[in-house]
Amino acid sequence: MNVRPDFSKNANQAETAPAFLSVWDMHSYYGESYIVQGISFNVHEGEILALLGRNGAGKTTTLRSIARMDDPQVNHGEIWLDHQPLHLMKSHQASMAGLGLVPEDRCIIPGLTVEENLKLAQIAEPIGWSIERLYDLFPRLGERRMQEGVTLSGGEQQMLAIARALARDIKVLLLDEPYEGLAPVIVDEIEKTLRHIKEQGMTTIIVEQNAVRALQLADRAVILDTGSIVFDGSAAEVLENEALRAEYLAI
Ligand SMILES: Nc1ncnc2c1ncn2[C@@H]1O[C@H](COP(=O)(O)OP(=O)(O)OP(=O)(O)O)[C@@H](O)[C@H]1O
Ligand SMILES: [Mg+2]
Repeated sequence: MNVRPDFSKNANQAETAPAFLSVWDMHSYYGESYIVQGISFNVHEGEILALLGRNGAGKTTTLRSIARMDDPQVNHGEIWLDHQPLHLMKSHQASMAGLGLVPEDRCIIPGLTVEENLKLAQIAEPIGWSIERLYDLFPRLGERRMQEGVTLSGGEQQMLAIARALARDIKVLLLDEPYEGLAPVIVDEIEKTLRHIKEQGMTTIIVEQNAVRALQLADRAVILDTGSIVFDGSAAEVLENEALRAEYLAI
């Protein structure tokens, strides 16, 4: 296809505000394996989008494609963030353009304290939230600022991973399974923080196996099934639609 997409329109959306992040007809491969099979969706500024689907549906692959990681290869499609063509960029350029990916494994740097992990994120301009503001957001990190990052609990490591993304001046936060392996009380705490971050104007995509929790947080949802989009609509609609949840989310 060589027709320029009209990013202001989305057949499944009533609102007309221009999209902040647009994925258009994106196809992604790991070598010969064809995973993301032509997906298009929009994320509006300041909203939280839940990207859901069963194991292996292609959620992580979608986030990695948007973040322009070396793997997978995006062989076709366009990705725009605030008028910048991410599809023409490498991962470090996408990062400079305002993408903040928090991967599933959290990637805390061994041998560095909490504060050093945060300072390292601010080694280059443009700098985002100040370290003091991040400690206001996550008081637990402030209390543990001199502790080695990898010795934090799972929940604290997740907080550090999110804080590190915000330490840079990002426009969109991509979270891959932020609640994974965490106790409900810690999930509550992280959810509260994500709401606060949204109130500050952040745009977020959250991938979660804990679909109900993600849907309670999100404004909208996109559901993937074997690399294709099977639903794009409001999060409330998914929570209300038992048949849809049973078919694609097994909940
Ligand atoms: N590096 C890779 N090389 C080849 N195939 C891969 C690679 N990573 C993922 N895949 C395959 O791509 C498909 C989608 O994987 P992906 O990790 O995107 O799914 P997911 O929706 O994030 O699943 P989960 O909920 O289990 O995290 C799967 O079939 C997976 O086996
Ligand atoms: Mg995944």
